[in-house]
Amino acid sequence: MQIFIDSANVKQIETWLAQGVVDGVTTNPSIMFKDGVTDLEDGARRLSTLLGDRPLSVEVTSNDHAVMMVQARTFATWARNIVIKIPIINEFGESCLGVIHGLTQEGIGVNATAILSFNQAILAAKAGATYVSIFAGRVADEGNDPAVVIRNVRNWVDEWESPARIIVGSIRSVIDIQSAALAGAHIITIPPQFLPKMVDHKYTRETVRQFVQDAEKTMEQMRKGKAAVAGSTAL
Ligand code: E4P
Repeated sequence: MQIFIDSANVKQIETWLAQGVVDGVTTNPSIMFKDGVTDLEDGARRLSTLLGDRPLSVEVTSNDHAVMMVQARTFATWARNIVIKIPIINEFGESCLGVIHGLTQEGIGVNATAILSFNQAILAAKAGATYVSIFAGRVADEGNDPAVVIRNVRNWVDEWESPARIIVGSIRSVIDIQSAALAGAHIITIPPQFLPKMVDHKYTRETVRQFVQDAEKTMEQMRKGKAAVAGSTAL
């Protein structure tokens, strides 16, 4: 399973890249805004350089299919690792599958986003999306169980040998990460504030504290032992 960071915060991404756990980054216009990106091209180029070969998802900013196509082609020229996020439908409920299909036919990688149901996910995969992004938190907002949607999509992908990879996003708490992983997500895109919580555990701290304290006692004992031997040979 891969871990992506759901952020445009360069410092945070650098921190977690250095820990060896980051396989890619996802952004959207809300994340860019929250993380202070004022120039989309500049922000995307900086993030893509940071990531090397790892994928960076950048989302189109229009409801219009023709504009989506133009933006996607432009974004794709900024760096080789840029994948274009296309919503499964626009805000008027019009299908964006044609855009997803058209871009993949041109060899541009697509992350089909804002997916909230099994049916949306399988259509995006059929249209050729490299990634299908299931928004777990938003599925739960509507009273549905994200784990069921993720598991069903994963079963379908495996059964029909679809090359589409499932990204689970819209992570709202640490337990969402565990649920998504166990439900079969290929990738989970995690807001960086949850990563320190994933790695920490108070009993691990206590355990390490005990080892460090005992190591100090052992060192002291060894020092005393050496001193006693040195004293006896000096006589
Ligand atoms: C994933 O790719 C999205 O960027 C993100 O997780 C959306 O989630 P949210 O808007 O519900 O937080």
